[in-house]
Amino acid sequence: MFKLDLPRYERIWLIVGTGTLAVFLVLFGFMAFSMGLTLSDGHKTVTPEALQTTAPFDQPGFVEIGPNEYKATMIAQVFSFVPGEAVIPVGSKVHFEVTSPDMVHGIGIPGTNVNMMVLPGHITEATYTFNRPGEYLILCNEYCGAGHHVMMGKLIVK
Ligand code: CUA
Repeated sequence: MFKLDLPRYERIWLIVGTGTLAVFLVLFGFMAFSMGLTLSDGHKTVTPEALQTTAPFDQPGFVEIGPNEYKATMIAQVFSFVPGEAVIPVGSKVHFEVTSPDMVHGIGIPGTNVNMMVLPGHITEATYTFNRPGEYLILCNEYCGAGHHVMMGKLIVK
C-alpha cells in the first residue's frame, strides 16, 4: 500500500468525494431494486463466453415447435443480431430467447410489445403473436457503441 502524502484538505476532499460516490452507488442500487428494474421473469442464465457450445445458442434461429408456433433463439452482439433475418407465416406465435456474448444490447420490434434489454449472462424472454403480415424491424434499443445505430435485423411475416 502506498501512503498518501497529500495536504490535509486534499485528503479530506478525497474522502468526501469517495464517500459521496459510494453513497450514490448504494442509493442507485437500492432504487433499482426497489423500483423493480430487475431482469425479466425466469432469471435464466448462460455463460457468455461459451455461447457457441451451449444449447440452444450454439444454433441460433427460428425453430417450429408446434402449429404456427416458433422458438426464436437469438444472439445480440456488436453490432448485429443472429439470425439477422427470418421468415415466418402470419399468425405465428414466437417465443423469443435472447442473450449477448459481449455487452448490454436491446431488442425491440416496433409495432409489437417486444422491447427488452439483453445482458451478457442472462436469457431474456418474450412471446408475441404476429397476426399482421409485413416486414418487422428488429432494433437494438440500448446504446452499445459505435455501431449501435446499424445494429438491426428483419423479421418477415407473410
Ligand atoms: Cu447493440 Cu445498441
